[in-house]
Amino acid sequence: MPPFVEMRDIVKIYPNGVVANRGVHFSVEKGEIHALVGENGAGKTTLMKILYGMEHPTAGQIFLEGRPVRIQNPHQAIDLGIGMVHQNFMLIPSFTIAQNIVLGQEPRRGRFIDFEAAARLTTELSQTYGLQVDPQARVEATPVGMRQRVEILKTLYRGANLLILDEPTAVLTPQETADLFRAVRRLVAEGKTVIFITHKLVEVKQIADRVTVMRHGEVTGEALRTADVSEADIAQLMVGRKVLFRIEKPPQQRGPAVAQVRDLSYISETGRPLLREVSFNVYAGEILGIAGVEGNGQTELAEVLSGLKPPTTGQALVNGRPVLGKGPRQVRQAGVAHIPEDRLTNGVALDASIADNLVVDRYFRPPFTRRGVMYPRLIRRHARDLMHRFDIRAASEESPVKSLSGGNMQKVIVAREFSSEPALLIAAQPTRGIDIGAAEFVRQQLVQKRNEGKAVLLISADLAEVMSLADRIAVMFKGRIVGIFQNGPDITEEELGLYMLGLKQQSPDEIETLQ
Ligand SMILES: Nc1ncnc2c1ncn2[C@@H]1O[C@H](COP(=O)(O)OP(=O)(O)OP(=O)(O)O)[C@@H](O)[C@H]1O
Ligand SMILES: [Mg+2]
Repeated sequence: MPPFVEMRDIVKIYPNGVVANRGVHFSVEKGEIHALVGENGAGKTTLMKILYGMEHPTAGQIFLEGRPVRIQNPHQAIDLGIGMVHQNFMLIPSFTIAQNIVLGQEPRRGRFIDFEAAARLTTELSQTYGLQVDPQARVEATPVGMRQRVEILKTLYRGANLLILDEPTAVLTPQETADLFRAVRRLVAEGKTVIFITHKLVEVKQIADRVTVMRHGEVTGEALRTADVSEADIAQLMVGRKVLFRIEKPPQQRGPAVAQVRDLSYISETGRPLLREVSFNVYAGEILGIAGVEGNGQTELAEVLSGLKPPTTGQALVNGRPVLGKGPRQVRQAGVAHIPEDRLTNGVALDASIADNLVVDRYFRPPFTRRGVMYPRLIRRHARDLMHRFDIRAASEESPVKSLSGGNMQKVIVAREFSSEPALLIAAQPTRGIDIGAAEFVRQQLVQKRNEGKAVLLISADLAEVMSLADRIAVMFKGRIVGIFQNGPDITEEELGLYMLGLKQQSPDEIETLQ
């Protein structure tokens, strides 16, 4: 029997000359979960956009169950039963979930949209596949995990038999990931086929039947059975060398406190207390890791400290200077760098070039500007240098950031923040969405900053990452720090887990001595 989907000899050259796919062969069997992995910029999203009709191949052919097809646009893809959930969601924020799901194919009563029917259809679909959503809620008011379920339901409503999920777990908490996996298994049980892009090799082993590995636009591992390959094998096919899963960390040389945070509280616009009297120090030469289930105040902590949100009460000093309530530029001048969690909103200007994005925080200073004169050549050279060091793959430093692959966009921000020579680096989910090779590099850079005597505040939902990098670990639960630990062999995931779930907590005295 011919494969369900077969893409043969796919070549894609973008108008700017970037060769994203170089003769790719990709095939998927009906009813399987097929993982697609590869470095940032390897060409995964491009290949899937071709299958979904959003991009046209420069050469190559697509077959569905042995029949050659031309997929000119997403409309035709949907007619052929192909649906795609993108890396960056495409929902209408002011619409309700039900409205988004039926958008373009609304049930009608006479000339009018039948909103009740829309809500009913949404509920039915949601129950069939175990993808829980609230049909009446507005998308703008729903958390990211639910938005993703909406995107999936939307493709199912349109009759998708093949679902392409582009890095669905990058934005999810471990709990939400487990829920998603259950739903994906249910989809397959109902006869669907799923293509799943991810950077997390554990997930490949957990959820996928087979895996295709890409590197530099080519296939380096074709439809391998996941039962037959190890994570290390896949990693090697991805990056062309062995990847270290362990980070070298020399003994700590701890200096004075760089950041001193006292009784910091933050109440949201809707009146919810998201930070409650948070106090801690970050010392020179230390990585303080913040662990916690997402949504327990970690994001707000980073945003308040970096000037993106005003605090309600409390104090924070960086090198003795107050930084709270100052606005991002002044906070930067006080020596704080911030890799934001929501990078597309807070991190980059999508239409601007890579070079411009890399200097937004410093173009007005020497060497880029002297006596009111700006030196574009230096800005471009600076960009080329950082692109080289951080392995940002793009046609040139003049390319707009929006033409980059998802992970390369992230690297632009990471490169800018690491190179700003901060006294305090706040890194929120710094390796999310970037490939294993680049993640290894970012982790080494975090340790490097620490070794140079900088203070690093690392916020990560990846407990393994926190445990491998941090010198001390603070656990947040419901906006509070409920425990601080000196990291070491006697700290276990299980123990931290109890604090993360609010089942255990240190006494205020204990916390104070460990601050
Ligand atoms: N619209 C575009 N115009 C020009 N070049 C593009 C465009 N979209 C992607 N590219 C380039 O094509 C290459 C492959 O990008 P693609 O998005 O397919 O990578 P990816 O494997 O999905 O990476 P990631 O893991 O970072 O999401 C990259 O070099 C990227 O810069
Ligand atoms: Mg991608």
